[in-house]
Amino acid sequence: MNGRDMSYQAVMSRKNEIMKASLGIDYDDYIQSPIAFDYERMMAETGYTHDDVIRIQHETKVGNTPLFELRNLTEAVRRSSPPGKGARILLKDEAANASGSFKARRASISAYEALVKGYPGMIAATSGNYGAAVASQAAQRGLKAIIIQEVFDSRGIGQPEIIEKGRKCEAYGAEVLKLSVGPELFYLLLRTLEETGFFNASLYTPFGVRGVESLGLEIANQVRAAYGREPDAVVITHAGGGNLTGTARGLLAAGCEQTRIVACSVDLSGLHMASDHDFNRKSFTTGHTGFGVPFATWPDRVDVPRNAARSLRYMDEYQLVTQGEVFYVTELLTKIEGLERGPAGNTSLTAAITLARQMDQEQVVVVQETEYTGAGKHHNSQLSFARKNGIEVRRGDPGDSVPGESIVIPERLEQVRGKVQDLDRLRISYLNNAARIHPPDRWGEVDISFLAADLKVNTDWVRQRIGSLSQNDA
Ligand SMILES: Cc1ncc(COP(=O)(O)O)c(C=O)c1O
Repeated sequence: MNGRDMSYQAVMSRKNEIMKASLGIDYDDYIQSPIAFDYERMMAETGYTHDDVIRIQHETKVGNTPLFELRNLTEAVRRSSPPGKGARILLKDEAANASGSFKARRASISAYEALVKGYPGMIAATSGNYGAAVASQAAQRGLKAIIIQEVFDSRGIGQPEIIEKGRKCEAYGAEVLKLSVGPELFYLLLRTLEETGFFNASLYTPFGVRGVESLGLEIANQVRAAYGREPDAVVITHAGGGNLTGTARGLLAAGCEQTRIVACSVDLSGLHMASDHDFNRKSFTTGHTGFGVPFATWPDRVDVPRNAARSLRYMDEYQLVTQGEVFYVTELLTKIEGLERGPAGNTSLTAAITLARQMDQEQVVVVQETEYTGAGKHHNSQLSFARKNGIEVRRGDPGDSVPGESIVIPERLEQVRGKVQDLDRLRISYLNNAARIHPPDRWGEVDISFLAADLKVNTDWVRQRIGSLSQNDA
């Protein structure tokens, strides 16, 4: 491009300049130290109020999705709960958004921003529903869309869900650049941003997270109107953290200070996301621990200088579920509630079953999303792909499953029980990551306060742990 050096080193060294031009945000305005930055000011300076967000989303078929009470599932859970237990399970049907998932909320504000700032198109690097959301929102705003997707392992084989998501992006008119797993994704993103002059519709900008806040606001309003109370718990499928951050911020903005924010991911511990061998040995391509844990414990590992999605800031609890449990619950939702929906929402639905069993009958637990299903997202294609890749699929106790080796599908609802992940362990891992970037003996007040806010603890909690941090930990 114009004789510019497009080598890896040259493009990477122009990273900040490319980010500024493609996003219109100068992160240097907010950065206070190698770890701290003024998060709330950055969020506020998107310039979009909640009313703006709702109006913009309404224009492009986003938001105002139904909240269903899952009566039959609630009854089934009550039958296997101690007396008086079994909270109502509510489900926010986010599949009703244009493009079939909550990701439309996230893409909608970026598309609007790109339009008003005069960018000719938008680019996002994602293998997920976000690509389809960007493509769908761009189509409605008359913008072009390029999606950069990691699709294949080194044998050229793609996970059926990822292939399906690529198909959907193309259906909405996006150009999809398909890669195999590897480190060149970020380079290609920067290069394409520079070559096209398109808007950087990264998942992790304040525009994206602001767009998800409307989901939390809607949940607060719908639960209050129908049940005369605030949601007691909201369960949120967690990967990169924007879903949880945006929803929790929306709930807080609506005054739901007491609502328990519960993250949930599919437990894929032992599998490595950047590994060519493991890439196709999982049946879930998002909402799993392979993203959930690294992003919670270091949010700034992303394609923008500072991540607007910071899940530990808002999280009260983190539930883990197995692949087999989610497959079982996916069928159950279809068979007893008449709703056929995709994997990510059914992940938090699985955790909601365990929570509902522990909660009182007058309480409500909200599963804050569904996603569309079909083709490669369908559990039958996932299970046959798993078998083809040598994974054992059987019925039994899901606690016996080993990610990458076996999927054990429960035989009855009582076997759906998930498990809780230790939040303090995640917080300490976050501090260790911070310590590697900025040694603790140089942390000032601004760092300690930032870290405390980012971990939902007080500053003494952070101070007490400084002595035991390892600056060499991975
Ligand atoms: C439908 C759906 N739900 C939940 C998630 C997880 O969201 P986040 O990455 O913001 O944690 C994703 C992300 O890929 C998704 O596509």
